[in-house]
Amino acid sequence: MRVIITDDAKQAALEAAEIIISLIKRKPDCVLGLATGSTPIGLYEVLVEAFKSGEVSFSSVSTFNLDEYYDMSPEHHQSYRYFMDQHLFSKVDIKPENTFLPECSGKQSAEEVAKQYEMEIKRRGGIDLQLLGIGENGHIGFNEPGSSLASRTRLKTLTPNTLEANSRLFEDGEFQPTLAMTMGVGTIMDAKQVLILATGTNKSEAIGNMLLGSITSACPASILQMHPHVTAVIDRDASIDIENSDYFELSESNRRKL
Ligand code: F6R
Repeated sequence: MRVIITDDAKQAALEAAEIIISLIKRKPDCVLGLATGSTPIGLYEVLVEAFKSGEVSFSSVSTFNLDEYYDMSPEHHQSYRYFMDQHLFSKVDIKPENTFLPECSGKQSAEEVAKQYEMEIKRRGGIDLQLLGIGENGHIGFNEPGSSLASRTRLKTLTPNTLEANSRLFEDGEFQPTLAMTMGVGTIMDAKQVLILATGTNKSEAIGNMLLGSITSACPASILQMHPHVTAVIDRDASIDIENSDYFELSESNRRKL
């Protein structure tokens, strides 16, 4: 796994954005897998700036988000569709019909929605680059600890730990969904390239387990050790539990010299 350790979150956003921008330049009709949450907001800001300056266009890009709350209308301010519109889609030239989230209303069959989502990913040639954040408990997407490492898109119940971590985003007394449709671990592993972004000391234990822990569903992100093309961009705060972080820094500096 390539590991890039940056001084701070801003630098991490720049490094991660650079990887996405160079992919879009190389393959203008690429398929991106996207994430929500606090971590990628800075990265989306860099992408928007790159679009505004004419460096990159999203006009032929397709996107598939990792997850969406179950039975939440796309207009709801807590929906991930709303988040993506606010932080990226409405600010660049992406075609709305090329943006996908696993949206599932209570009136639909979750199995059918999940199946269609997987089929649409395949129909567009598969995900070229999947962007991930990581939960404090090691989740990727909403694949909570205990998720099958071969799982596909499906409905998941969020753990109390995840609900607690995300409660900061909800007003007091506001309804917080406990179910979400998420790409499976297997779906994520099918992406040709994975880019995982993590910042802050609260992510350091999960990052340590992801990189050098045993491969186990107790830390779903640890399966990324089995993926042939992963880049982890993490700030120094998120790197404190990596046993041999010096080695990763040396390795990255050699890579840049070559
Ligand atoms: C979001 C997602 C989650 C988040 C993770 C970290 O689409 O799938 O796995 O990436 O919960 O969230 P933040 O960035 O808010 O700490």
